[in-house]
Amino acid sequence: MSSSMQSFPLQAEKQAETNPELYQYFASLVSSLPSSKGLSNNQLYRHDQGWHSSFMPMVGSMVADVCFTARPSDIVVATVPKSGTTWIKALLYATVHRSEHPADAADHPFNSFGPHECIKFFEYQLYAHNKIPDLNKLPDPRLFATHVPFVSLPRTVIATGCKIVYVCRDPKDHLISQWDFANKFRARDGLEPLSVETAAEIFCNGLSPFGPYWDHVLGYWRAHLARPKQVLFFRYEEMQRDPAAHVRRLAEFMGHPFGVGEEEDGAVEAIVKLCSFEHMNGLEAIKGGKTELAVGTVANTAFFRRGVVGDWANHLSPETAARIDTITEAKFKDSGLSV
Ligand code: A3P
Repeated sequence: MSSSMQSFPLQAEKQAETNPELYQYFASLVSSLPSSKGLSNNQLYRHDQGWHSSFMPMVGSMVADVCFTARPSDIVVATVPKSGTTWIKALLYATVHRSEHPADAADHPFNSFGPHECIKFFEYQLYAHNKIPDLNKLPDPRLFATHVPFVSLPRTVIATGCKIVYVCRDPKDHLISQWDFANKFRARDGLEPLSVETAAEIFCNGLSPFGPYWDHVLGYWRAHLARPKQVLFFRYEEMQRDPAAHVRRLAEFMGHPFGVGEEEDGAVEAIVKLCSFEHMNGLEAIKGGKTELAVGTVANTAFFRRGVVGDWANHLSPETAARIDTITEAKFKDSGLSV
């Protein structure tokens, strides 16, 4: 529990669901934190657990921390932004709901809703708009998502032992994806695009959304090592190599593996195809849809750029790539983790 959380009166925690002033409390707390400019020219505040975020998502994450009540059956997707969140949300939703919504059904929900509508972020959506959402009526298993580091997950997520699916990605590809996304926000605000080298400098200094990247990945990696049955750890690159194996692992992890009949009917392959970059990118819900986030409305197309491994080589100089690799090796040394 963070020190700011500890200082929040316990009695007020109990009143949180009916206390609209809770947002004001955390808003003034976040305003008092040190901040610097991030990639998209927004202020990034430094949480007292050492990670950065723009204002509203950080406030939302603090409200979620004290207000969200987890159930053991909940499943939470966790990622650093631009690491494959949209993809893992699609795969998880399609796998969990495969009985009522077969992946090859013409009326699959993805025809109407993007993955970010199907599985919502705590800090960007559910707790983002000065509201305490009523999540009690949602049927099990409830699916949620977050970008916050492991140390700052809503406290009942850890205490209840609900399941967490984490996806990490090569930091260089993550950076390129983040850089491109930030430049879309800059264009919206009439700002010049940031050069990739400036973006890399900011990233290497740890000043990226929910970063430092390395701390984020290590936090969930260590949680996975300590509680492998609670925290699943995927790599974007391995998902690309063998998406079907990851769909099967998701199904086993949620305690509902594919049966022989499902395997014979090609249910796994249908989910892989449904959630593939090419298929999702062509859906009306993506081409014409938008997602309301705490940082503004985002066209769903912004979550689909190239969807490949190794695109960093088209953008980063060998020196910058080597700099990031050196930091990664040093940070992950002795952790058993390599990306
Ligand atoms: P690129 O920018 O490298 O193309 P997030 O969902 O965490 O915001 O991450 C976005 C990245 O995941 C983007 O990477 C995007 O193209 C890629 N992506 C989105 N949907 C995908 C899918 N179905 N399969 C593979 N990659 C996907």
